[in-house]
Amino acid sequence: MKPNHTVLVTGGAGYIGSHTCKALYTSGYIPVVLDNLSTGHANAVKWGPLIEADIRDGPAVADAIKNHKPKSVIHFAASAYVGESVQKPEIYYQNNVCGMLNLLQKCMENGLMSMVFSSSCATYGIPEKLPISESSPQKPINPYGRTKLIGEQILKDYAHAYNFSYSILRYFNACGADPEGEIGERHDPETHLIPLALMAASDPEREFELFGTDYPTPDGTCIRDFIHVSDLARAHVLALNHVLAGGENISVNLGSGNTYSVQQILDFVVKITGKNININQRSARPGDPPELCADVNLAKTILNFKTSHSELNEIIKTAAPFFDH
Ligand SMILES: NC(=O)c1ccc[n+]([C@@H]2O[C@H](COP(=O)([O-])OP(=O)(O)OC[C@H]3O[C@@H](n4cnc5c(N)ncnc54)[C@H](O)[C@@H]3O)[C@@H](O)[C@H]2O)c1
Repeated sequence: MKPNHTVLVTGGAGYIGSHTCKALYTSGYIPVVLDNLSTGHANAVKWGPLIEADIRDGPAVADAIKNHKPKSVIHFAASAYVGESVQKPEIYYQNNVCGMLNLLQKCMENGLMSMVFSSSCATYGIPEKLPISESSPQKPINPYGRTKLIGEQILKDYAHAYNFSYSILRYFNACGADPEGEIGERHDPETHLIPLALMAASDPEREFELFGTDYPTPDGTCIRDFIHVSDLARAHVLALNHVLAGGENISVNLGSGNTYSVQQILDFVVKITGKNININQRSARPGDPPELCADVNLAKTILNFKTSHSELNEIIKTAAPFFDH
């Protein structure tokens, strides 16, 4: 059955937000995007209106809620570059913490009492054991991860004080692109592994910097858990349904449980594109753990969520057309 509810989507012009808007629309929701276009793209907003505004602009957020009467908010808008967060933490505390507080304030003043929140596996820091379950200690090692953890804590405190409802979603490595080719990944600067590998494959002048080749892993490069962005998008619809149905407040990992090493990704990109990658081997970056892998059981149990696009073949094949120049 089609719900036909309006949902406010902050950051809906960005990578994961735009894919989620498509999934929301397909499920019968009307996504109203509020985005300042700092890293997003107006032409990625295709499934509902775009309000060009900042989450820290109180009157604009209040007007968006009053005019569109959303049933809930999915909050993607954030600054999300780990390296930049170390150099310029003030940007991260301003946007990810002050922005979140302003958004929540305006939601509550206008009777909007639930949120689906983009958190991150960066809140776990360096894991003590694998796979990482939701009860693993959260000890972020950079300002970005700390601002996401603070966001989680704010939501929990608001839930306790004001009966605010939430689903906290901790993503692992988002990757791939819409299988129908309508939207893709367009970060600038790009810092994510698969786009960087595809960019290096499409440009012989460009190097791929491979950080760390002597990790204690089978091929010496680090291992990550990759989840296709269309799977992530569908999980947001399930989390939204859960919140709107009055389900308990939850914090769940969104990974695939499928792990690949950096070298495996590079080999696969070469295979699919038929092009070589110019690799520049660098030493490992401090704070990059050898392996990250999500325990995906809770998302399965609570949200009935299973990935269906997160095999490496589909990830690379859907992402590749956006970098084939
Ligand atoms: N990409 C990943 O692998 C990953 C992993 C874990 C968590 N996340 C989180 O998921 C969310 C989305 O990530 P993404 O990769 O799609 O990033 P993105 O940069 O593509 O999207 C973020 C969007 O938010 C908008 N935005 C930023 N600050 C804003 C503000 N103050 N007001 C209004 N709009 C604002 C940007 O213009 C952009 O459209 C972020 O919260 C990020 O921290 C991403």
